[in-house]
Formats: sequence, C-alpha cells, structure tokens
Amino acid sequence: MLEKRPLIIDCDPGVDDAQCIMMVKGSGLFDIRGITPVHGNVPLEKTKANALFLNHYYGIDAPVAVGAEEAMIARLERAEMAHGKSGLGSFEYSLDGLEYSDMKAWDFIWEEAQKWKGELELLAIGPLTNIAILVLKHPEVVDLVKRFVIMGGGATRGNHTQLGEFNIWQDPHAAEIVFKAGFKDFYMVDLDACATAYLTLSDQDEVLEHAKKTSIGALFENFAEFRKEMMKYRKMPAELIKYFLEHYSPPDAAAAAVIIDPSICEYVDKYVTVDCNGVLTAGQTVVDWFGFTGSPNMHVVRRLDRERYVKLYLDCLDSYREVQ
Ligand code: RIB
Ligand code: CA
Repeated sequence: MLEKRPLIIDCDPGVDDAQCIMMVKGSGLFDIRGITPVHGNVPLEKTKANALFLNHYYGIDAPVAVGAEEAMIARLERAEMAHGKSGLGSFEYSLDGLEYSDMKAWDFIWEEAQKWKGELELLAIGPLTNIAILVLKHPEVVDLVKRFVIMGGGATRGNHTQLGEFNIWQDPHAAEIVFKAGFKDFYMVDLDACATAYLTLSDQDEVLEHAKKTSIGALFENFAEFRKEMMKYRKMPAELIKYFLEHYSPPDAAAAAVIIDPSICEYVDKYVTVDCNGVLTAGQTVVDWFGFTGSPNMHVVRRLDRERYVKLYLDCLDSYREVQ
C-alpha cells in the first residue's frame, strides 16, 4: 500500500480549479506528481500561469507540464465572466523563478502512468483536450490509470448553454474520445452532483474565517470579494443571483471531494456519450438511463453528502494554517 496516492491534476484554473487543487493538496493523501494545464476558462497562456502560481503558492512544487492551447475543433468562447480576465478573480501574483516542465502534458502523464504501474490516479477539471490526446497517442494508458475523476457534463442540464456544461461544451470531440477510451473506475462529477455540494452564506463566512488563519488567506479573500462583485453583472434574474450567492457550489471542489473520498458521493453506472454535432444540444452529455445503447462506461455521480463536503473543505483549508 503506497503511503500517498500518486495523482496528476489536469485543469484550467479557474477560481474553482484553485479551490479543488487546494483541497487535494490539503487532504494530505496525495503525492501530486504534476499539474497539466489546458485551455478553458481563460486562454492557455493564463491557465498555465495560474497553474504554475498555484503549484508554488500551495507548496506543491510538482512539475507543471503544459497542454493544449485549443480544442480539437476550436471554440472561441471562454468563461472570463465567471473567473475574471486572469482566471483567478482579481488576484495578482509573480511567477519570478518559476518554470514549466519541458514536457507536453500528454507525454508527462504517459511517463508517470508507466512509472506507477497502474497506481496513478487522474483528476481532470477542465476541457478534456489533453486527456484525449493522451489516449489517442497511448490508448493502453487506460490500463495504467487506477481511478479517473472528471468535473464535467450535465445529466439534466448545461451551464454554458442550456444543455452544454462548459468543460464538455468547450471540447465535445475530446470528451467523446475520452468517454469511449475505456478508463476504469471513472467518475463523472457533473453539474447535478456539484449542485448538491454547496456552501451556504454562513459556510462561506466560516471558510473566510478559516482562510484568514492560513498562508493562502489572501487568495480566498480575493475570491470572496470577486464573487460578490462578479455576480452583480451576471445576466440572470435577481432571484437566481440571490440563490447562487446563498448556494455557492464551486464545481471543481466537488470533484476534489470525490477523488479524496469516493464514499462521499452516490452514483449510478451508466453509458454516457457526447453530442458533437447538435446546435442546441452541442456538448450535451447524453446519459443512457435505461441501458439501450451500451454497457456503462462510467459512474455518473448524482449527489454528494453536503455536510461531509463542507467539513472536508474546511479541514483541507486548515492544513495551510500558519504555525502560531
Ligand atoms: O462547468 C464548470 C467547469 O467549467 C469548471 O471546471 C470550471 O472551472 C470550468 O472549467
Ligand atoms: Ca475547471
């Protein structure tokens, strides 16, 4: 039994990506072998810089192996409205002295998968372009990945479009390739599941109180301020803005909770495909609830235990406490 579980985080930081990576590192359970940024919330130039910064800011200091700049068939929309122009709210940082790995994301993951002989776990919380290139170059990698968890998809709805969740919508062709690749112990933490893992206003106040006692408090204070400011400009009915402020569910943090402790969630095993050609349905994850079209290819996560999630979030945050 390995002392710490070897893990690679593929991401597009991203305010919620930053919270996910905080939790994974803070859990103390993982040997984070690397972080592989991909295009997504903001262009790759920014997601890779944010990944390099977070890797150092959280004290992970693992290789940061940069991945794809665009989707298989490029989309021209990003998500600055939810993450800010930099992708990390309005937080400013320096990258002085920090360097990227000279390996591409997919080659780095392949090398680590061979090294860990089937023990490597993979967490993907951005568009799946890097993972698709990985499985196209090395299809046998699926036999070397012990557990694969994604934040992505929407069994009943989207968030970027009515039916397209952002990560899948950004690169539906990559998602379809990854969904069909044959990953074992594959968890899809979709929007429905993420919505059950929310922080109430009092939870958010508690997070801020805990964060202020840690070495990473400045980032979380910035995120809290940014969230309040950003929600003023979101084009949605006032009651929906109020709901989202009172039920804050950073999607990638839910995926962190699932890979940290899979018993925190309930799931059903279903066959899921991606609509790559629709107009209104582009990027929709189509769950075959009745098993008409294929045997299950993943665990479709339906809900998380919210109380356990909130406690886990705070416990992971507390691991960054400054020694008094
Ligand atoms: O739809 C939410 C997902 O898209 C999250 O991973 C967020 O960071 C964005 O990548
Ligand atoms: Ca993300």
